[in-house]
Amino acid sequence: MEQKRYGHFDDQHREYVITDPQTPWPWINYLGNEDFFSLISNTAGGYSFYKDAKFRRITRYRYNNVPMDNGGRYFYIKEGDTVWNPGWKPCKTPLDFYECRHGMSYTRITGKKNGVEASVLFFVPLKKWCEVQKLTLKNESSEVKNLKLFSFEEWCLWNAATDMENFQRNFSTGEVEIEGSTIYHKTEYRERRNHYAFYHVNSPIQGFDTDRETFVGLYNAFADPQAVMEGKPRNSHAHGWSPIASHYIEVTLQPGESKDFVFLLGYIENEQDDKWESLQVINKKKAHALIAELDTTEKVDKAFAELCALWDDLLNIYQVKTGNDKLDRMVNIWNQYQCMVTFNFSRSASFFESGVGRGMGFRDSNQDLVGFVHQIPPRARQRIIDIASTQFPDGGCYHQYQPLTKRGNNDIGGGFNDDPCWLIFGTVAYIKETGDFSILDEMVPFDNQPGTEVTLFEHLKISMNHVIENLGPHLLPLIGRADWNDCLNLNCFSWDPNESFQTTENVSEGTKAESLMIAGLFVVTGKDYVALCKKLGKNDEAARMQAAVDAMIAAVKKDGWDGEWYLRAYDFYGRKIGSNENDEAKIFIESQGWCTMAEIGAEDGMVAKSLDSCKKYLECEHGMVLNNPAFSKYIYEYGEISSYPEGYKENAGIFCHNNPWVIIGETLAGRGNDAWAHYSKILPSYVEEKYQTLHKVEPYVNCQMVAGKDAFKPGEGKNSWLTGTAAWMWYTVSEFILGIKPDYDGIRIDPCLPETANDYTVNRKFRDAEYEITIHPNGAQKGVKSITLDGQPVDGTVIPYSAGKHTVEVTM
Ligand code: BGC
Ligand code: NOJ
Repeated sequence: MEQKRYGHFDDQHREYVITDPQTPWPWINYLGNEDFFSLISNTAGGYSFYKDAKFRRITRYRYNNVPMDNGGRYFYIKEGDTVWNPGWKPCKTPLDFYECRHGMSYTRITGKKNGVEASVLFFVPLKKWCEVQKLTLKNESSEVKNLKLFSFEEWCLWNAATDMENFQRNFSTGEVEIEGSTIYHKTEYRERRNHYAFYHVNSPIQGFDTDRETFVGLYNAFADPQAVMEGKPRNSHAHGWSPIASHYIEVTLQPGESKDFVFLLGYIENEQDDKWESLQVINKKKAHALIAELDTTEKVDKAFAELCALWDDLLNIYQVKTGNDKLDRMVNIWNQYQCMVTFNFSRSASFFESGVGRGMGFRDSNQDLVGFVHQIPPRARQRIIDIASTQFPDGGCYHQYQPLTKRGNNDIGGGFNDDPCWLIFGTVAYIKETGDFSILDEMVPFDNQPGTEVTLFEHLKISMNHVIENLGPHLLPLIGRADWNDCLNLNCFSWDPNESFQTTENVSEGTKAESLMIAGLFVVTGKDYVALCKKLGKNDEAARMQAAVDAMIAAVKKDGWDGEWYLRAYDFYGRKIGSNENDEAKIFIESQGWCTMAEIGAEDGMVAKSLDSCKKYLECEHGMVLNNPAFSKYIYEYGEISSYPEGYKENAGIFCHNNPWVIIGETLAGRGNDAWAHYSKILPSYVEEKYQTLHKVEPYVNCQMVAGKDAFKPGEGKNSWLTGTAAWMWYTVSEFILGIKPDYDGIRIDPCLPETANDYTVNRKFRDAEYEITIHPNGAQKGVKSITLDGQPVDGTVIPYSAGKHTVEVTM
């Protein structure tokens, strides 16, 4: 059954086009690539920040508000008694036309009313600390139009957390300066802050406002600000309370005439000893310079063209042509785009992550790396070093760190025993992509303490050691606070709702809680580590770790198999979890994914049985659920997992992140039909076609969780954008389904496809080479028969790397 549609893909422009502003949930986009970032919804809601969504929040946003998506960059257009916004909100005046185009790091919102078109292009120019809002007003009627234009932004008092709570202070600190067409926000600049923000427009203004209550009116709303309704700015000067920035411009347009206005929301940092121009007057030199770089339509258009060119380059590194639009648009555009966004934001700021709770996750960031390493290797390199610098000397690590300071986050601490393995996963992906082994010699500190540096290779070694030094009674890895599943807290027994499941580890003494997920992860990353050691000629180390891997495989075969699938864990007391013996949650997905990826017991049929069990017990219409059956009650010994109602999140939700693990397992087993069936179920473009209303969240990206079969509304999505699903979907399709896998000495070609697959071509830039690879599947699901490189037969499945342009033909 097809549902109401709110938009469609425009592949040629690499945009998603929203045609109805009343989407089932705000459908957002991200602006910015390096330091200055913004979130923007399809009605222009959202906010901006510099580097860190918690500590440098530039504009204010009200999460979970009524109405939804409250606060943003709003343009009010008043003509006679009619007031409207190009993005429909906040006035919600019915528009004659509405369209929002979310593209690669930009958004264009267009509204029309009574013969006037207002179109706003939002983007963050490369290497600049500002958001551009280019507003074009066009008179499409045959009469002269006299319009009153009001802009609006509300300042956040920098720390997004205290901004929401410390009102006894906040209501007295707000300070602004107004100079020409620029409104400066300088709260706390008088003391320790060396930064301020500004909101500028490249035209004369006929008035302004900087005090929220004066502009909006205490008992009015963003939908009917007094100044706008009366068509009169107040020229207010904020002192304390809530500073805002609003320009007032009178615009006359002849029939057919159009005018551009470039609005700039900027962020400036000054040296401590160069903060002031004179007493209480901020030094605006850098602001003036930034404004001068973007004060005309031509300059802005040039900056926009540069941004688009960057995306051409980034996306052209991997392009596939299969003839299946739904697959091609995800692989070539949206999946890669989402990977870049997760790289930039980790799990900090979305419409489900408030930007104040979490910084960068250790495991999250390592996994995100496989999604973007082909696009920006130097930044992946830096990311690896940053992550490794938050490790402890025993191989354990901070679970999260703050992007601004790069320091480990003490509130959450460490003790998540899967974390160390992910460092190997990320580093190996980086070296295979780049061939840059020198990263292993980088000197990297522990816990960011100068003087403690050892090589990155040493960090990898202690990461592996951390697992083997923390084994439980079945010689399986101890789980610690949790493994990948942050909610399986087997050492936290809590009846106190004020305790955090993540940080409470009150019974770890004498624990027998072991994880089969870490066991599988250890075998996969252990094999990678062994191969790396051999590559480096460290044969003793390779042999040492191979023995540990073999021992782990033996332990899983002996005590990790339940007959039809891999167990999930042993609890604190050493009792089975994820076993047919349990009343509920008899089977979990994570251990099926990792143990099949590790191919543990493949020779005994364990892998095939496990994959079959996933189909039989976990699969449903919208993907595979995390566990089955769902927990129907809270289990004191298991922690957060059973705190969720059935079908949501870690309690039998379709946690999209882990579906690709099973899909990769399927591809390694050569089961292309099954791999494709699982993959296409959670591929956004397939969901988009059928379920826009039910799915609710953005149809162009994956979300973290889709409600599972036991939920009230199976198929409803939540937590869109910031999820490891992005990187895993990319890794799965690019390397395991389409089968183009970077390796130390070249590219390994090993697709696994549905029988129905047609010939396809992948254009892959790799180091200093460019390959055009055409695959002829001939109805096979797996198995490369022959490869030619520039017409010459190749032995095996790795095309050896050499710089330059190459043509590759692959017959399966
Ligand atoms: C969520 C997890 C998340 C964890 C840590 C839990 O409430 O269910 O998905 O990883 O919090 O933030
Ligand atoms: C979200 C967290 O960011 C990630 O680290 C975790 O693995 C999953 N939730 C599963 O709990």
